[in-house]
Amino acid sequence: MKGTLFGLGVGPGDPELLTLKAVRLLGRTTVIAYPAPLEGDSMARSIAAAHLPAGAEEIALRLPFDPAKRADDVYDAGAVAIAGHLAAGRDVAVLCEGDPLFYGSFLYLLARLAGRFPVEVVPGVSSMMACAAALGHPLTARDDALVVIPAPRPEEEIERLLAGAEAAAIMKLGRHLPKVWRVLSRLGLAEQAVYIERVGLPNQRIRPLAEAVLDPAPPYFAMILVHRRGKAWN
Ligand SMILES: C[S@@+](CC[C@H](N)C(=O)[O-])C[C@H]1O[C@@H](n2cnc3c(N)ncnc32)[C@H](O)[C@@H]1O
Repeated sequence: MKGTLFGLGVGPGDPELLTLKAVRLLGRTTVIAYPAPLEGDSMARSIAAAHLPAGAEEIALRLPFDPAKRADDVYDAGAVAIAGHLAAGRDVAVLCEGDPLFYGSFLYLLARLAGRFPVEVVPGVSSMMACAAALGHPLTARDDALVVIPAPRPEEEIERLLAGAEAAAIMKLGRHLPKVWRVLSRLGLAEQAVYIERVGLPNQRIRPLAEAVLDPAPPYFAMILVHRRGKAWN
């Protein structure tokens, strides 16, 4: 019997946002895998730390910080290590920050292992939902279309996407924040845009976007939410 590959969403930071299902599955898994920076701790692992089974074998996928850089060799090696356990009948739980299928690195393991082994994905609370909740910012109402925009996209594309949107979430900010600020200002949306860093983590910070844009090193784990009508209820 082959083992099952579990993609477990662990939510964006607050350990209380893990689902009961993720906690239950984690408790009976003896092999866990997770993305991690080249050096230092894995965010997904630290969110789930209280529920990790004692003595579990751990596979850290050490990825370069720049998410634009492809890391095929890391995923290839990780998939080989995971496949070894699955083929031997051991389940493997891949911890995924937020939701596994929403810009998650789990996708690249899934691409390599789906079809060869049973797979079960457990959705997680996405950062977009947690940011909206923390900011008290209703995302959408009635027939609004919501656009999710990765900030590394070129400035003119961000402008085109934002110009056609009633509601938007702008992710992966980091050094791209000033570019996004320029677009929001040109479209007259800067005033109503709201901004949050590291939602649910001990160093969560909500501050005016006009202040954050002056930061010499804006964080990657941050998000802008904006609605054309100011508030979705208008
Ligand atoms: C590669 S995507 C991963 C998204 C994740 N799978 C999810 O469902 O939220 C990383 C981006 O998600 C957003 N993000 C993830 N965690 C966050 C957090 N704790 N606070 C604010 N934004 C976060 C940031 O915009 C970050 O650049």
